[in-house]
Amino acid sequence: MRFATLAATLLLTASQALAIGDLAFNLGVKKNDGSCKSTQDYESDLQVLKPYTNKVKVYAASDCNTLQNLGPAAENEGFQIFLGIWPTPDSHYQEEKGAVSANLPNLKTSTFAGFLVGSESLYRNDLNAEQLAGLVNDFRSFVSGIKDSQGNSYSSVQVGIVDSWNLLIASYNAPAVQASDFVMANAFSYWQGQTMGNASYSFFDDIMQALQTIQTAKGSTDIDFWVGETGWPTAGANFDASEPSVDNAKQFWQEGICALRAWGVNVIVFEAFDEDWKPASAGNADVETHWGVWSSGDSLKYPLSCNLS
Ligand SMILES: *[C@@H]1O[C@H](CO)[C@@H](O)[C@H](O)[C@H]1NC(C)=O
Repeated sequence: MRFATLAATLLLTASQALAIGDLAFNLGVKKNDGSCKSTQDYESDLQVLKPYTNKVKVYAASDCNTLQNLGPAAENEGFQIFLGIWPTPDSHYQEEKGAVSANLPNLKTSTFAGFLVGSESLYRNDLNAEQLAGLVNDFRSFVSGIKDSQGNSYSSVQVGIVDSWNLLIASYNAPAVQASDFVMANAFSYWQGQTMGNASYSFFDDIMQALQTIQTAKGSTDIDFWVGETGWPTAGANFDASEPSVDNAKQFWQEGICALRAWGVNVIVFEAFDEDWKPASAGNADVETHWGVWSSGDSLKYPLSCNLS
């Protein structure tokens, strides 16, 4: 009897542990030679990702015809897209809206996990919080007027923001959080110069501060929250005490990404594939081509199963 009870308890624990945070990947939109990916290229990418996730995030709709090319690939492969809308300068924002109004009517609302206005716009100081809030509201009303291929309004898709955790915790940025249906926080222990011994602690601390500030700004814990970007580079120069390597990326995967997901937090990893086309410029830019969990040739660099024992 005692064993039966114990077994039931263990089963319960195991099924609760399955309420793990979702996993998704940031996806580059260019091939190794710097040309734009086609629908066929995206299909190949999504087939590689499929055993691990059904969601990808991209930064813009019009650049590289991303929405036009990725949209049909996502529908064919059963994926959802977090679609970035690049809001600056205004001429670019108008191009984004053009791509959205041209392509969303051919796709389904269920293909979109959310629309993200800007990416680290606050961090780069491209926009202040009030301006970003205004654009979130503008995009929400714009997209509400578009119907999908089944006649459903895109008003059902959430509109939010993604920014660096340390900007999201600033009280003066609360208006941007308040305007958003959902929020994503980016945090890179690598760029904070952390040792492997402190990288997961630092990551957890950043994300918990961001989550708490977002919940306070929204006046509710009932808000969709994601880590929008995190990861560890597998090669390139050290940044203070942070060292790129496959072993360290593998360790951060387990102790940072898997651990945070085990607490139920959704994580979008930066990034799916190495982007060989990125220019090797000064300073630490040589890490920029080594953030992929897969090489640019689609080979997985380390195992992705979480050892949550
Ligand atoms: C570890 O991370 C925490 C949170 O980011 C930070 O406050 C602390 O200074 C870090 N410790 C070391 C030794 O860097």
